[in-house]
Amino acid sequence: MSNGTVFKDIADRYDRLNAILSLGQDQKWRNTVVSKLPHGTLLDLGAGTGAANPIFSPRSIVAIDPAIEMLEFNDAPSRVVSVGESLPFADETFDAVFSAYVFRNLDSVESTMEEIARVLKPGGMAGIVDLGRPSGAVTSKIHRAGTSVVLPLAGLSIGAREEYVYLHHTPDKHPPPEQLLAHTPLALVDTWRLGPMGFVWAALLQKPDDR
Ligand SMILES: C[S@@+](CC[C@H](N)C(=O)[O-])C[C@H]1O[C@@H](n2cnc3c(N)ncnc32)[C@H](O)[C@@H]1O
Repeated sequence: MSNGTVFKDIADRYDRLNAILSLGQDQKWRNTVVSKLPHGTLLDLGAGTGAANPIFSPRSIVAIDPAIEMLEFNDAPSRVVSVGESLPFADETFDAVFSAYVFRNLDSVESTMEEIARVLKPGGMAGIVDLGRPSGAVTSKIHRAGTSVVLPLAGLSIGAREEYVYLHHTPDKHPPPEQLLAHTPLALVDTWRLGPMGFVWAALLQKPDDR
């Protein structure tokens, strides 16, 4: 099971299960980031089924995702099959880049951040939200033990056990956002925690405007 196949196999059940696992909070968590992004043109990186589309208005949206099976459920007017590590757009195209629950699946955060910086206009903003682990050592252990039981059971209930065992391991892939995003071409404006025990993280970054 790799990040290349996991989402194409669960595309038709992804939204339902995501809502259950986040106790219906996934859109609220996306919105804490989207509400801080400028209007204009927005790239939804790893857009999946387009769950965030209802909260993007009045922006003009381009959705990219490597899984065409996820994009088929996405009603964004512009959809592109691609990865974050190699964006098929000209320099300085977007006012904002948004990415929800994607970063732990990337092959390279470093290349993706370089690409985000390249396609953002000067002064443009990037907003990221993803699942990680709570910051304290004890709460982190408790959370890891919890997801080792809950995620495979949730996966079993929709016939995708292997996929959700894979997802149980992905929150451990990266250090906390303050470390993960400390050295990118963008300025780290803010990071904050969401959800029970703070296992969801969000970050806001800005491209320097040297004009
Ligand atoms: C958990 S889903 C999140 C989908 C959507 N952003 C949301 O909020 O519901 C993760 C998405 O990231 C996509 N993805 C995986 N690897 C990627 C990569 N290297 N670049 C961009 N997207 C990727 C997957 O295909 C999947 O649609």
